[in-house]
Amino acid sequence: MTRILLLGGTTEASTLASTLAKDGMDAVFSYAGRTAKPVSQPLPTRVGGFGGVDGLTAYLQAENITHVVDATHPFAAQMSTNAVQACEAAGVPLCAFERPAWQAGEGDTWVRTDSVDGAVGALPDTPARVFLAIGKQNLTQFAAKPQHHYLLRLVDAPEAPLPLPHTTVEIARGPFDAAGDTALMRRHGITHVVAKNAGGAGAAAKLTAARDLALPVIMIGRPQVPARPVKGSVAEVMAWLSHPAD
Ligand SMILES: NC(=O)c1ccc[n+]([C@@H]2O[C@H](COP(=O)([O-])OP(=O)(O)OC[C@H]3O[C@@H](n4cnc5c(N)ncnc54)[C@H](OP(=O)(O)O)[C@@H]3O)[C@@H](O)[C@H]2O)c1
Repeated sequence: MTRILLLGGTTEASTLASTLAKDGMDAVFSYAGRTAKPVSQPLPTRVGGFGGVDGLTAYLQAENITHVVDATHPFAAQMSTNAVQACEAAGVPLCAFERPAWQAGEGDTWVRTDSVDGAVGALPDTPARVFLAIGKQNLTQFAAKPQHHYLLRLVDAPEAPLPLPHTTVEIARGPFDAAGDTALMRRHGITHVVAKNAGGAGAAAKLTAARDLALPVIMIGRPQVPARPVKGSVAEVMAWLSHPAD
């Protein structure tokens, strides 16, 4: 009997959930609970952390989970690390469903960095107008450069005061398109873009817009997660579910 835990939070997770539901598979979708109104899923859904590695191990055993698919965001490194360790402890096979990282192309001006602090350091010292396209996490680090004006694009309106003195908040949920992002950046006089290398189509518009407007992109590279099998399409994940040992 197959019973799948699908760790979600990405477009890939939602696409896989549709296929699992269509095929009548027994699966539970899991959200961290970061957004007020997460996209509803065609699978039984749970919301909230498991309580670290031990909590997830206990959950896998209590729920008789036979397979885990980690389709969290490439920057959700804590969850991905916990999933590897808990699956090892519980003897449950795991695969990640992950989109490839973006690559710079002709006309792109990317400044690459490995961390959020690196991105802060890569911003100029003179006041600039920055499209800080990294979601709501890690904003505090940018308080080290309060001279800049930051354009933030968030799914939900912030509940607490922002740690940055000069901000404009745009409330929007992807996918985004290049024409819209070009217009947004023009409207706000953006001079620099800061992005996490999430990959995928829905959030790539800002990169195309930056290229069209000849703006530099400070690109934060993906964090390290322990080795695990990585699948790149729904078909590959479905094949793995049939034969996880492959
Ligand atoms: N990081 C990003 O840039 C980013 C961007 C877009 C979307 N997201 C999505 O937002 C969620 C949280 O991201 P994050 O950066 O906070 O992750 P994280 O730092 O790796 O995770 C922190 C903790 O949140 C809980 N958690 C994360 N994903 C979960 C899930 N799918 N189901 C249940 N609990 C989960 C776990 O708590 P316990 O230890 O208590 O189990 C985990 O230890 C992820 O699902 C991710 O796909 C993240």
